[in-house]
Amino acid sequence: MNIQEKIKLFKYLAKHYDSMDYPPIILWRSLGRERIKEGWEKRVKEILKGEIDCPGLYVHIPYCQTKCFFCKFRVRAGNSSQLHSRYLRSLKAEIHDISPLVKKLSFRTLYLGGGTPTIFSDEQLEDLLSTLEKRFNLKETTQRLIESTPATLSMKKFRILKKYGFNRITIGVQVTDKKILTAINRRNQTRDMVKECFGQARKAGIEIINIDLVAGLPGQSTESFLHDVRFILKMRPDALHLFPYEEEELVIFYRIGKKLTDQDRARRDKMLEQADHEILKRGYRSYTNEPYLLSPQAANFQFQYRYCYNGSLLGLGAEALSYIPNHYVYENAKLEEYLACWSRGKSPRHCNGYPINRDETRLNYILNNIRHGLNKNIFFRLYGLDFHKTYREETEALKKLNRLEDDAEKIKLIAGDDAEFRAYSKFFFSPGIIKELNGKIKKTCRRR
Ligand SMILES: C[S@@+](CC[C@H](N)C(=O)[O-])C[C@H]1O[C@@H](n2cnc3c(N)ncnc32)[C@H](O)[C@@H]1O
Ligand code: SF4
Repeated sequence: MNIQEKIKLFKYLAKHYDSMDYPPIILWRSLGRERIKEGWEKRVKEILKGEIDCPGLYVHIPYCQTKCFFCKFRVRAGNSSQLHSRYLRSLKAEIHDISPLVKKLSFRTLYLGGGTPTIFSDEQLEDLLSTLEKRFNLKETTQRLIESTPATLSMKKFRILKKYGFNRITIGVQVTDKKILTAINRRNQTRDMVKECFGQARKAGIEIINIDLVAGLPGQSTESFLHDVRFILKMRPDALHLFPYEEEELVIFYRIGKKLTDQDRARRDKMLEQADHEILKRGYRSYTNEPYLLSPQAANFQFQYRYCYNGSLLGLGAEALSYIPNHYVYENAKLEEYLACWSRGKSPRHCNGYPINRDETRLNYILNNIRHGLNKNIFFRLYGLDFHKTYREETEALKKLNRLEDDAEKIKLIAGDDAEFRAYSKFFFSPGIIKELNGKIKKTCRRR
């Protein structure tokens, strides 16, 4: 296939499959749990023999007080303590099953995400954290981080988090305007609560506070968004994330037909641009892939280790993602099956995933980094290979198309938007994956 034919095919694939993951999730299939366990055993041996890694432990809690109408995640609204206890019991059963396999791994990060992990009661949170501490080697973690909302935090919870070494917290504020909070189904949050909770986090000594805001929601004006940004900047969080509102399948606004127009999108992008100027003026800088940090230490290290160093990731909990370099990527069972099996102490027999060998692992690393600039020295340290010699054909083709920026340190793929990135990045997909993806898309198109 010549370059032009490749471009045509890649644009076709990018148009019909709009995800950026590698290997593409639509190709994932059922994998027996025994294979996953073998994968972890092999990975531990590789790390003990000296392969570079920074293993991360992720725990997923899929519950929230309410489901916000803009939220794109598969979370469940559920405040019942009984429900949370059943989930906690299931998590503990999973921990009991998997921890012996990775007991020689020294995890570098611990991340509790969701949903809203701080929805657990003080006792449940302490129970989970002490179990994790007992069952895994967390002595050398450089960062322990957790996601939360102001309405699920208290001084007591901060003290528990501090006791268990949490040094980074994300407080999801999203918006502060009362009318919008009502419109997005997040009534139980107020500005005073946000301020109080920020003060408590500082008082408890949590080193890094990250705040999440969302831009471009239905009914949210530029003034209202900029007001929120200024309100948050006054508190001087160590990190700030501004999420452009995106419509996806699980978003309730989208499902009920409250859809964004081109004008709404343009307004959203404009408000983010305006905020950008104000935030940069206040001393925030971009380090790695995170745009607004006061220092490199404020970054999310689990993401950094996973993307910049291709670190292993063990995900616990329903639908949690895991990554075993050289072996598998996979996702745990859906919540209903997860609870049905683990709450009786039984492991789900299968999960959804894809086997990845060493070559595919390298490609996963390239695809995670090439958009923001892949560091060729780190690549060499990780794989003992010269990037240009190994991917000569791919880099030459992209250079001919003026799609590569290449200096002494980094190599970067130039893509104006996501669709372009999805098309041109496919030069780095393995021929086997391209063939499988093409077959899958053709089949899906025929069925429609
Ligand atoms: C997994 S959520 C968890 C955060 C936490 N429960 C909260 O409410 O802040 C992480 C982030 O995803 C962002 N998010 C959720 N739905 C989104 C959407 N449709 N578009 C853009 N960002 C979204 C939110 O801004 C949120 O801070
Ligand atoms: S934004 Fe946060 S609190 Fe709201 S539904 Fe999503 S995960 Fe839950």
